Amino acid sequence: MTALLEIEQLQVSFGSTAAVRGASLSVARGETHCLVGESGCGKSVTALSVMNLLAPNARRSAKRLAFEGQDLLGLSDSGMANLRGNAMAMIFQEPMTSLNPAYTVGSQMTEVLRRHKRASQRAATDRAADLLARVGITAPGLRLGQFPHQLSGGLRQRVMIAMALMCEPRLLIADEPTTALDVTVQAQILRLLSRLQRDLGLGMLLITHDLGIVARVAHRVSVMYAGEVVESAPTAELFANPRHPYTQGLLRCVPVPGRIKRDEPLGSIPGTVPRIAPGFAGCAFRERCAFADESCSSAIPRHRPSAAHDFLCRLPA
Ligand SMILES: Nc1ncnc2c1ncn2[C@@H]1O[C@H](COP(=O)(O)OP(=O)(O)OP(=O)(O)O)[C@@H](O)[C@H]1O
Ligand code: SF4
Ligand SMILES: [Mg+2]
Repeated sequence: MTALLEIEQLQVSFGSTAAVRGASLSVARGETHCLVGESGCGKSVTALSVMNLLAPNARRSAKRLAFEGQDLLGLSDSGMANLRGNAMAMIFQEPMTSLNPAYTVGSQMTEVLRRHKRASQRAATDRAADLLARVGITAPGLRLGQFPHQLSGGLRQRVMIAMALMCEPRLLIADEPTTALDVTVQAQILRLLSRLQRDLGLGMLLITHDLGIVARVAHRVSVMYAGEVVESAPTAELFANPRHPYTQGLLRCVPVPGRIKRDEPLGSIPGTVPRIAPGFAGCAFRERCAFADESCSSAIPRHRPSAAHDFLCRLPA
């Protein structure tokens, strides 16, 4: 079956910074694929690359970037605009990225539906109010008439989640969608997304720092470090048998796989993510890795300990 989203060998650079370096991942229908890694690893840049919403100074290339088998690299701006917010939608890390301060919540939400689905104003307003209620917003009618600056950060984040769902997307890319929300609302939104996933076969690429969320909702996890996917595996396998030293460091705080609490953050590893210049060779984790030796400065093999599990390290599979 064709994957919903296929990313193969994605490269993104900003001037002399290589932000994404050959990252590959895919999302199937009905699958939640979580992308984790420390700040600055390239998670948001990967997500924005799919939507073709990178900053103008970005250079993007890939061996393949496709949605439902359709090539996104060669797609025209209007073709991309037809998909964006419609069949594939994104919840941004920063809510004000997708909310226009000059328009009310209601006009922004209904506009998406009217543009893509030719819905009547009445039907669009009803759907917007229904979705606001479903993401836990009380008095949705009142909120529809308000401007983004009149809402708290948590409310804005919920509005953005509702807006992303207006057109019943088949792929949802969610970049830290629930960080500003309290655990009750977070749980409510995750339940809503799971239901949509079941009912609509929604595929989701979910970026999060919260291992509790990963453990509860992810089918597969990919770990990014300095622009590369250093390990990818089905969730249970990754928690039980992390193979890359970086993944092991991130999961170190988790005492027993399968018993992860809510709000369990990624483990912290001494040192920081290096800035990588184009042409860099070897493993970018070597300055922080307890297993590093001189062979870590040359080409690193990707091992496949099982059909669905791979990691990038000189250590044997
Ligand atoms: N517009 C830009 N211009 C220059 N560099 C950028 C730009 N956007 C991102 N970068 C760089 O690309 C790298 C990856 O950034 P990205 O935002 O993808 O990180 P992230 O993994 O999403 O981190 P976080 O967890 O903090 O959101 C960083 O080094 C960042 O500084
Ligand atoms: S390649 Fe070397 S430095 Fe990189 S994670 Fe493996 S052992 Fe550590
Ligand atoms: Mg980010």
